[in-house]
Amino acid sequence: MTSSVFVQEKRNEVAGPLHRPVCLQLKAHQAAIAAAHMRDMFATDPARFERFSLQVGELLLDYSKNRITGETMGLLVKLAEEADVAGWRERMFSGDKINNTENRAVLHVALRNRSNHPVIVDGEDVMPKVNAVIERLGAFAERVRSGEWRGYTGERITDIVNIGIGGSDLGPQMVYQALKPYRHPRLKMHFISNIDGAHVKEALEALNPETTLFIVSSKTFTTQETMTNAHYARAWFLAQSQAEKHIARHFVAVSTNRDAVAAFGIDPANMFEFWDWVGGRYSLWSAIGLSIVLAVGAERFVELLEGAHAMDEHFRHAPLAANMPVILALLGVWYNNFFGAESHAILPYDHYLRSLPAYLEQADMESNGKSVDRDGNIVDYPTGAIVWGATGINGQHAFYQLLHQGTKIIPADFIVSIESHTELQEHHDILIANFLAQTEALMRGRTREETQREMGLAQTGQFVSHKVFDGNHPSNAILLQKLTPHALGMLIALYEHKIFVEGVIWNLNSYDQWGVELGKQLASRILPELHADAPVAGHDASTNALINYYRRMSHPRTGL
Ligand code: F6P
Repeated sequence: MTSSVFVQEKRNEVAGPLHRPVCLQLKAHQAAIAAAHMRDMFATDPARFERFSLQVGELLLDYSKNRITGETMGLLVKLAEEADVAGWRERMFSGDKINNTENRAVLHVALRNRSNHPVIVDGEDVMPKVNAVIERLGAFAERVRSGEWRGYTGERITDIVNIGIGGSDLGPQMVYQALKPYRHPRLKMHFISNIDGAHVKEALEALNPETTLFIVSSKTFTTQETMTNAHYARAWFLAQSQAEKHIARHFVAVSTNRDAVAAFGIDPANMFEFWDWVGGRYSLWSAIGLSIVLAVGAERFVELLEGAHAMDEHFRHAPLAANMPVILALLGVWYNNFFGAESHAILPYDHYLRSLPAYLEQADMESNGKSVDRDGNIVDYPTGAIVWGATGINGQHAFYQLLHQGTKIIPADFIVSIESHTELQEHHDILIANFLAQTEALMRGRTREETQREMGLAQTGQFVSHKVFDGNHPSNAILLQKLTPHALGMLIALYEHKIFVEGVIWNLNSYDQWGVELGKQLASRILPELHADAPVAGHDASTNALINYYRRMSHPRTGL
């Protein structure tokens, strides 16, 4: 039964956007340049950097170390035109319901629309309510930061705990970490996401309920992990404070679900709202960013929004061929669909950006990890890449071996700030030198002759082949002047729009996430079975056996 449905669905396969005539041209072009080496491209074109680099505000993108020529970029831009990137972009910015499977607009851009021109959803300009929430966030944060907002015993708040997961955790956490140099000196932030009890337990162990403020962050306010952790925190708080009336001073909520917030016991007056047209992984600009506002203050948060808005304006108005997010997306498509690259590495050379890879994993893979297009057809072309990464310097001493000499093609983004937040200039120079050296090494490689000459290896018996680097590995370099709120806003928006453009070219709805549902559904079925009286038999042999093994082996601990 299951397999016949599968076969039938397979028959509905469509030709797909990757069969456009321009894609056939791209395919032929790829075959023609596949053997070309970037070191030769640089040798024959001294203006290659000027041709393939672009500055937008305080961001410089150097994409010259890619396996591209002028013809490649021309064809890729044609692909973007034929996929109607410009039309979809306008549909997004003007509030059309481009999230078709959920019948929702996609308007994280409205949250940072600092020019404030009207954005209409269902006949209503959303800007007044966007601005009102930003005001409320700022006013509330100021009360906490100044010490006016006190805990139930009259103590100042010293610790803020954000309880959330996915977009309600990764975005705020990444931004908080990135903007640490701007944080309030007396407020410590904590982020609890994992349902593993060790996370909440460890985090709360070090805290004092009298001086702790919890933010329960959940778009739906139904997410099991978040609600379980929030209830635990509530019980932990009540164990000491002894009175429900004190909850109002120690628990606030960020959600779209007012009723569920009230049912939890949080005063709706202490709820900061956002709307269904903000996707979870695009929500750090909304009230979900409350922990950011508390940490760095309203002014810095607005600078973050302004940075994102500057990138939005660039994305909306720059020609496709000189449009930073479009260029990154086209390069993504180039490697994904024409070179067979499976993954894409994010390599920040900045300690403060160490959570960016994890943030982008969700942003990209939850958006474009899809095998059905926006019209419900099964795609017959690769879509979203596996996004992964870590801080570059640490990676150099760990996984870069594979980048340099492995058999896979792994395009990588190298990200660095020109000005450091520390005064340790020697450290920074070493960091920058490594950043530059790695992209050069990946591109140039080292030939057999160079290896022998440089290493004084005259004979093949001296493992020469092991020391040769093929090079020709693509990378982008993204340089920020300094990791300020404004530059960070630009950087995040750059990636958001890159993901959008790739989704348009692959004809995906990048704004739903049905792929997360099945696991949630099965987990709620399995949960009561873990302590069932009789052996469980309703699953496949493996799952049954594992559940029953757990039942048997956990009895001594649970006392069943
Ligand atoms: O399960 C995936 C997901 O829905 C993400 O898309 C989202 O960011 C996360 O869970 C958290 O959801 P919520 O904010 O509703 O708790």
